[in-house]
Amino acid sequence: MKLTPEEEDMLSGKRGKAAEKAMDLLVRYANALGAERFVETYNVAGVPGTSNPWLKHQFEADGGDYRAVFCRFDLDSDEVFDLPKMTGNSCHLQGGMDPELWREQGFSDALHDNFVSDEKNVTALDIRNLKTCTPYIAGNEPKFGEHCAWMESSAVVYCNSVLGSRTNTEGRESTSAAMITHRIPDWGLHTDANRRGHHHIKVDVPVDSIFEWGMLGYFIGEIVQETIPVIEGDLKNADLTRHKHFGAAAASSGGVEMYHMVGITPEAPTAEKAFGGLTPLSHIYYGPEERRKTYENLNIRGKSRDVDFVMLGCPHAALEQIEEVARLLVGRKIHENTALWMFTSRFVKLQADARGFTDIIQGAGGMLMTDTCSAISQIIPPDTKVVALDSAKQTHYLPAFMGVEAWYGTTTDCINAAVSGKWEGELS
Ligand code: F3S
Repeated sequence: MKLTPEEEDMLSGKRGKAAEKAMDLLVRYANALGAERFVETYNVAGVPGTSNPWLKHQFEADGGDYRAVFCRFDLDSDEVFDLPKMTGNSCHLQGGMDPELWREQGFSDALHDNFVSDEKNVTALDIRNLKTCTPYIAGNEPKFGEHCAWMESSAVVYCNSVLGSRTNTEGRESTSAAMITHRIPDWGLHTDANRRGHHHIKVDVPVDSIFEWGMLGYFIGEIVQETIPVIEGDLKNADLTRHKHFGAAAASSGGVEMYHMVGITPEAPTAEKAFGGLTPLSHIYYGPEERRKTYENLNIRGKSRDVDFVMLGCPHAALEQIEEVARLLVGRKIHENTALWMFTSRFVKLQADARGFTDIIQGAGGMLMTDTCSAISQIIPPDTKVVALDSAKQTHYLPAFMGVEAWYGTTTDCINAAVSGKWEGELS
């Protein structure tokens, strides 16, 4: 590895113990990847130092606190030391519980105390507690071409594809180290050569709603896995929310970290530009038959039509999605046997509160929650057997994590199920 004088200083300990240990971890990481240098990054999104009591217990001999977890677990250090204030744009992604509705989610006082304590420590280090998987709608929107170090697959694919910023799917360790050093290996999607498209996708049915965008993403991810698709065709209303659902789905059925949409995403003004001289590995077609099969595939775990739980907001809902749900609920009540939880970020919830959407959802018997989701927290209402979802990503994960049946449909299908207690969604 070629290190700059500043990086050498960090590694030798001249810039303090935290920089030394963080740089040591990053050099080991870069060597394992085969990277020859670092890029500078001032935009880092991770889960620095946050842990449950079980993990703290593993480091009891080192104090069993936030500091011990950050040093020993995040930085893989053999010593525990004071942590510096983080500079640049360092933010905390989603967490494990809602700061106000944690009792309703079923958490104990002890777990909540641990949550409050970690939050205080994160804030004391000047890390922004955004607590969301959608930092790009909660105040952290990196610039085109900016090098970032982000965790969270749905945020990574959005960062690369829609914003044209550059990040690989980082881990807790590399992001915590990058917050201290402002370095990340120059590898993968940080380089021009690795941002070129691999497969050509022709979309031959109208893809307009988030339901359709989610299905298309799920279809493409399953086929291209970790490579970069270049998509052309009948894509409509390409807004933040649709990209959010498309990318999250493609990153869960496959491992898509970047996609190009010709004439839509910033690095794909033309198909030629998106492929950057590479010959497409394959040409893939998405028509009515592929759409129908994807819908059936997503609904393969739906058996009983009696819905116990409707979960919305994966990835965390944008304000217009909360507005849509509030509008659908006006004058209606959630069924007595069904629960409705919708997840968003703290930033967006403040706006939903101000616009009266939270009151409408609560008045109907639902809850608007922040910070987490059912897949991350592994919390669902007691005795849930059947879930309704409008997110292909959540439909992919929740049945596997929680052993529940799941239906995938439109947001309207889901709200209708919340009100009637019955799943009546079908493909039109
Ligand atoms: Fe976010 Fe949870 Fe989905 S963290 S992307 S809402 S799985």
